[in-house]
Amino acid sequence: MTDLKHRLGDALAAAFVALDLPPELGRVTPSDRPDLADFQCNGALPAAKKAGRNPRDIATQIAEGLAGNPDLASVEIAGPGFINLRISDARLAQRANEIATDPRVGADQVEAPRRVLIDYGGPNVAKPMHVGHLRSSILGESLKRIFRFRGDEVVGDAHFGDWGYQMGLLIGAVLDENPGLSGLVERLNSPETETVTEGEAFKAQADTITLADLDRLYPAAAARGKEDADYRDRARRLTVELQAKRPGYYRLWQHFARVTQVALARDFHALGVDFDLWRGESDVDGLIPDMVHDLDQRALLMDDQGARIIRVARQGDKRELPPLLVVSSAGSAMYGTTDLATVLDRKQTFGPDLVLYAVDQRQADHFEVVFRAAVLAGYAVEGSLEHIGFGTMNGTDGKPFKTREGGVLKLNDLIEMTRTKARERLTEAGLGSELAPEAFEQTASQVAVAALKFADLSNYRGTSYVFDLDRFSSFEGKTGPYLLYQAVRVKSVLRRATDQGLQAGPIQLTDPAERELILLLDAFDSALSEAYDKRAPNLLAEHAYKLAQTFSRFYAACPILPAEGAVRASRLTLAQTTLKQLELALDLLGMHAPDRM
Ligand code: ARG
Repeated sequence: MTDLKHRLGDALAAAFVALDLPPELGRVTPSDRPDLADFQCNGALPAAKKAGRNPRDIATQIAEGLAGNPDLASVEIAGPGFINLRISDARLAQRANEIATDPRVGADQVEAPRRVLIDYGGPNVAKPMHVGHLRSSILGESLKRIFRFRGDEVVGDAHFGDWGYQMGLLIGAVLDENPGLSGLVERLNSPETETVTEGEAFKAQADTITLADLDRLYPAAAARGKEDADYRDRARRLTVELQAKRPGYYRLWQHFARVTQVALARDFHALGVDFDLWRGESDVDGLIPDMVHDLDQRALLMDDQGARIIRVARQGDKRELPPLLVVSSAGSAMYGTTDLATVLDRKQTFGPDLVLYAVDQRQADHFEVVFRAAVLAGYAVEGSLEHIGFGTMNGTDGKPFKTREGGVLKLNDLIEMTRTKARERLTEAGLGSELAPEAFEQTASQVAVAALKFADLSNYRGTSYVFDLDRFSSFEGKTGPYLLYQAVRVKSVLRRATDQGLQAGPIQLTDPAERELILLLDAFDSALSEAYDKRAPNLLAEHAYKLAQTFSRFYAACPILPAEGAVRASRLTLAQTTLKQLELALDLLGMHAPDRM
């Protein structure tokens, strides 16, 4: 199934070829002047330039070549040689009916599906989440859904940060605070002498350590590690011991990882972010010794002041790239080591054709280094690993967003805060007053998620934006809540139609507002495929917003329920189709509209 833009593009390409001109010149775009035309083609201008001819002459010849094409109501030449195209009513109605009956509401699929892994979220044990993790989660979730919908086989992985120096810090801090537990951990470290009661006593004590304890202990330990060299050294030692799987430390760490993961998964779920895989950095630890051996055998590793590195700099690099640090001088695996081992692990377990890393732009160099090393090592082919960088979410001070107390934001608090705002907004707009308390709460959550996600996804990912909850949560303007509200309005019209026993029927054209709406429904495929190609959900967000606005104009110009017969039936189908496409687009962005408000 082809959208109108491509269908016309094919006709135009053929017309250019008939004049012995290259088919690419037939490219068609939506018109800049919707009052004059639906689509336009500017190919006569470059053609004329090359041939030293008058562009209007070429445009006229092309127009002649299109004569009799039943898809077109008119072809006009404008300005220096733009070709303005207007679709015939018959063709437009036919396309509208095609979209209306299509389960994919007009969206195509990729011809050759790939296996795609999306690495996103990237939360850590102990280290609080910051805005980078929030953006990564929102962006990665949307990319996951878009890629999957386009037909790829997609797996989303949280790539849990559970294996670094922060773990040593945390183990030290927990042991300092719990001398009893500390003794047990020491005993467990020598498993030969461990008794059953000790194992049970350990479990009982470890279970008393909550996420709140970790949240409290970690920042203090991190701060002390910066100042106190002995403290830092001990944390490093503990990290090495943990990575060597000393049983006491290892079991304590398992407890930390578990409580953190459970809480994080719950918070992510509240944001409509769900990972298929929750693999940790620690999961690839077992691959590292063999990997290091393999890299060494193939002479990729160099010694560098006691550490082992892979040099990745190339001649002609615009910026100086550091080498990949594979083994630190203390003998431990680093962030880049686990990333390299993860590339290998994914190759062995999933065999991705493409891996997208939705991570803060500030890690661009890190990924460039890892990717080059992975290609050198033969763990991935050039171009199959892609860093999908993004800017920051800033506070009004222009710096990465922090809470009023100056701390990094916690996902849970952010969701709570946004939900509170959503409740206020609903109440002040007089919405949801007829809902039962649980339904009202659920609506507030959906509005909150839409507010956060749409604010993020409506910006191109590379652009930083300012966090402004008042604006994001408004039911007016270019916001998530506005989109949900429009979807709810359509639902309510359709509900009334059902209550009155009205039937939908084939789409026909009676008003310019219907044309406008159908052209937009038709533009969905382009928005989606461009969002896919550019890894840019903002293009889809833009489409959803335009669709909601265009529906509003259509609804104002074309009464639905008060209309009669075939016209009413047609408009009902248009409303149903708009709702289907809008809900699909919202779902691909990671949000959901309630049934009522
Ligand atoms: N845990 C990392 C951080 O907090 C992000 C992980 C990103 N993904 C990756 N494969 N390195 O910065």
